Amino acid sequence: MSDSIINIEHLNKTFEVDKTKMEILRDINLKISPGEFVTIVGHSGCGKSTLLKIICGLVSYEDGKVERSGKAVSGPGPSCGMVFQEHRLLPWLKIKDNISFGLKLSKEEKDKRVGHYLEMVGLKDFANSYPAQLSGGMSQRAAIARGLANNPEILLLDEPFGALDALTRIQMQKEILSIQEKEGTTMVLVTHDIDEAIYLGDRIVVMSARPGEIKDIIKTDRYASRRRNSPEFANYRKKIYDYFFEDVQDYEIEYNI
Ligand SMILES: Nc1ncnc2c1ncn2[C@@H]1O[C@H](COP(=O)(O)OP(=O)(O)O)[C@@H](O)[C@H]1O
Ligand SMILES: [Mg+2]
Repeated sequence: MSDSIINIEHLNKTFEVDKTKMEILRDINLKISPGEFVTIVGHSGCGKSTLLKIICGLVSYEDGKVERSGKAVSGPGPSCGMVFQEHRLLPWLKIKDNISFGLKLSKEEKDKRVGHYLEMVGLKDFANSYPAQLSGGMSQRAAIARGLANNPEILLLDEPFGALDALTRIQMQKEILSIQEKEGTTMVLVTHDIDEAIYLGDRIVVMSARPGEIKDIIKTDRYASRRRNSPEFANYRKKIYDYFFEDVQDYEIEYNI
């Protein structure tokens, strides 16, 4: 499929810790089309963040192929943004300056761009606030606005709502969907929250415990997966839980030996 915006083939990744090689990702194959919303769900430590960082160009890979827009990834670039679990806003800058940080635009263009995204994430009235004056949910929205302000083709989100309470989290999930629909940005979101993966993903990539392998890629019905009490939603949930418990049972067997 030549029209993939992200193309990963036979990616393997190891980290060396204390001169011992640790296998992190094993034979990852994944193609993502422009405008898709893909979620990646897996146990903690299975290599989800590493995979996102490799796509973004923040972590190197030795084995396999990783391409963005048909070009081998060799480092970070403006076409691919990343939002982390902790918002990483600079505490000494106002929200508007955090969002425009690094943008190479005239002052007018910057103000326009920042205003647009502040409005989109519902923070118009907080342009002049400092990060410490915002709640967790608001800071995370600011981080998303910052990610979008570069107009990236791809936005990678690493457990962006992990630190939020359940209700704010659901609210943010709705918002990120509506942003994605408006902007058409390709989004890849990593989570260990199964419901979040189902609700947001056009496709859900289910990973095994470390070394992370792709167990399945589930294509969801957009209409059904946006309804948390639909029978289809329950079916997706059951399927993913079953995959997760397969790994847990493996662990138990290992521990019992
Ligand atoms: N820079 C690094 N050096 C060595 N080991 C690392 C490094 N980054 C991550 N790891 C290890 O790789 C594994 C996967 O980490 P990570 O990708 O953060 O998992 P996840 O995001 O799924 O929780 C973990 O065992 C972690 O300790
Ligand atoms: Mg992680």
